[in-house]
Amino acid sequence: MEAKRERAAERAAQLRREIDEHNYRYHVLDQPVISDADFDRMMQELIDIEQCFPELRAADSPTARVGGEPLPGFATVAHRQPMLGLENAFNETELHEFDGRVRRAAGLEAVAYFCELKIDGLAVALQYEEGLFTRGSTRGDGFTGEEITHNLRTIKQLPLRLPEPVTLEARGEVYISRVDFENMNRTRHEQSEPLFANPRNAAAGSLRQLDPRVSAERPLRIYLYGLGQPNPDLASQAEALAYLEQLRLPVNPHRTLCHGIAAVWDFCRSWQEERHRLPYEIDGIVIKVNDLELQRLLGSTSRSPRWAIAYKYPPEEKTTRVLDIRVNVGRTGTITPVAILEPVFLSGSTVQRASLHNEEILAEKEVLIGDTVVVRKAGEVIPEVVQALKEKRTGSEIRFAMPDRCPSCGAAVYRLPGEAARRCLNPSCPAQVVERLVHFASRRAMDIEGLGPAVAELLWRERLAADVADLYFLERAQLEPLERLAEKSAANLVDAIARSRGNPLHRLLFGLGIRFVGERASRLLAERFLTLDALQGAGTEELTAVPEIGPKIAEAVMHFFSSPQTGELLGKLRRAGVNFAEPAAAPAAGRTLAGLTFVFSGSLERLTRVEAALLVEERGGQVASAVSKKTDFLVAGEAPGGKLERARELGVKVLDENRFLEMLGRREPGVGTTILPDSYAGS
Ligand code: IVH
Repeated sequence: MEAKRERAAERAAQLRREIDEHNYRYHVLDQPVISDADFDRMMQELIDIEQCFPELRAADSPTARVGGEPLPGFATVAHRQPMLGLENAFNETELHEFDGRVRRAAGLEAVAYFCELKIDGLAVALQYEEGLFTRGSTRGDGFTGEEITHNLRTIKQLPLRLPEPVTLEARGEVYISRVDFENMNRTRHEQSEPLFANPRNAAAGSLRQLDPRVSAERPLRIYLYGLGQPNPDLASQAEALAYLEQLRLPVNPHRTLCHGIAAVWDFCRSWQEERHRLPYEIDGIVIKVNDLELQRLLGSTSRSPRWAIAYKYPPEEKTTRVLDIRVNVGRTGTITPVAILEPVFLSGSTVQRASLHNEEILAEKEVLIGDTVVVRKAGEVIPEVVQALKEKRTGSEIRFAMPDRCPSCGAAVYRLPGEAARRCLNPSCPAQVVERLVHFASRRAMDIEGLGPAVAELLWRERLAADVADLYFLERAQLEPLERLAEKSAANLVDAIARSRGNPLHRLLFGLGIRFVGERASRLLAERFLTLDALQGAGTEELTAVPEIGPKIAEAVMHFFSSPQTGELLGKLRRAGVNFAEPAAAPAAGRTLAGLTFVFSGSLERLTRVEAALLVEERGGQVASAVSKKTDFLVAGEAPGGKLERARELGVKVLDENRFLEMLGRREPGVGTTILPDSYAGS
């Protein structure tokens, strides 16, 4: 027994170290290296050990806490009710055990459960006060989360004002749909930015952007699934969700009331395959005791409620054969190895190719042509080779070597210092030319409908387009004879190309595919310099003066403009009549209060405190509840009380309501006053 205990203690210590590391990678870095299922298994093993040997339990064990740590850089929010996690069930037996525990504790023969999809995203809490959305936060460690109000405000599905003036906390899951995730990664790939492993990570990364302008460009969505503190009129989870829906908050429609655990199991199984057809990812089903009174009676442990459980689906894995390994040449000449697979139906679609990423990963996985391999979808989307089954080898498998020459143009390929990929450096390489045409025409660049990969390839093959400027000189008569292009689509294509001439500069910039210059950088540069000529004339200093533009982008921009090929291309585009200017932006509210922290005290005459806070936040400022050295302004209303004294002690500038309104630009400044913050010193 003693030896057993010792082994268990060692194993528990090892599991804790590993779980802590994976927790950090998952919650803090957003870069997990193992699947959720593997993580859950480790956690379960540790829970089991601690159950057998209670003396091994420790306050700092990962089983004793709820999740990640709040990120530095965000204000923190203490949750009024802790945001707990859920216990997991991996099979039918474990569901029955859960049901047994619930029924015993409740003294009931059968219990009604409410089943919901377990959306694979990030838990958030939304505070509404008198109907206004005032604050949003992440789960953080379950007790304290990061304040992400601004990022949540960018989610268009979320009402900023509810149809009723109620005060409540709604909880839900922020996620990114499969399609949006794929588009996001495609763009990131085009811009040589690191890819997100799955939609969950993409959502986490977007939500934890310090700059809400970045998250505003990310396609975040949300489903709400509960209330922090259910209001006393509600009797069940079913009613709670109906109530959220009535408040026009987004609630997932796939939910059902099940009488007894057998019906719950049927519901879980019914989604096992069907879930792959959903436009977003789910990683299980959440099963909740429907009766809220019974929920309260069952209570929670320190980690999870006793009235709910998550049934987790095993990630689908299949075996198939590698028929060949080929390489793909990207727009910037990157050479990527790709496994050509015997077609296999996996997580909702037929998979025939799986990226092997780069030669290092290929070497690590030791995949040979002819190997039987295990495949799954990374984040349920991108097919990847998990491992080669070496025991299935027959000896006829063939090792694949990365080519020294580009498979498209035959030029030598190089691995540049600091890059994991080999690249073909020939700018006229056909594969690259075709990819550049496709990118130029893509929806978020010049948006030329009808110019996809097949047409681009055809135009190149027929020597009609060797670069993007050639597109503007195409005539209908040249296109009509092409076998793939019927008369009508030739006309449509010419029209679509002609229409794209008038696009704003930022689309053109993005379409040109300058290294590291993605959609966002294109927009920032275009908005700052307004014309291509001004941008072309800009040096490092001017470029890096644009917020978010660092030396890497600046250098890439200057390098692009310094090349003779660019000069020739831009000359051709100019002759073609392509627009090189950005329309001046409409005047917006602007982030005039960015970086400033306000505290309110006493009652205001013309605004409620909530409205005042929203006005500050809209302009990029922050609102805090207590005066500290970090406070920039105290806005003192009627009967300001102790905060005013504290502000005076600390030398914090004090504003009355009128001056505050002036600062917001809501009222013309009076004669002799300025709206510069310094003018408030000592007032
Ligand atoms: S209820 C106290 N319902 O799953 C129970 N959670 O570990 C609170 N999740 O990240 C959770 N869909 O955000 C609940 N329909 C759903 C859910 C759901 C996704 C997430 C939740 C948390 C994790 C629970």
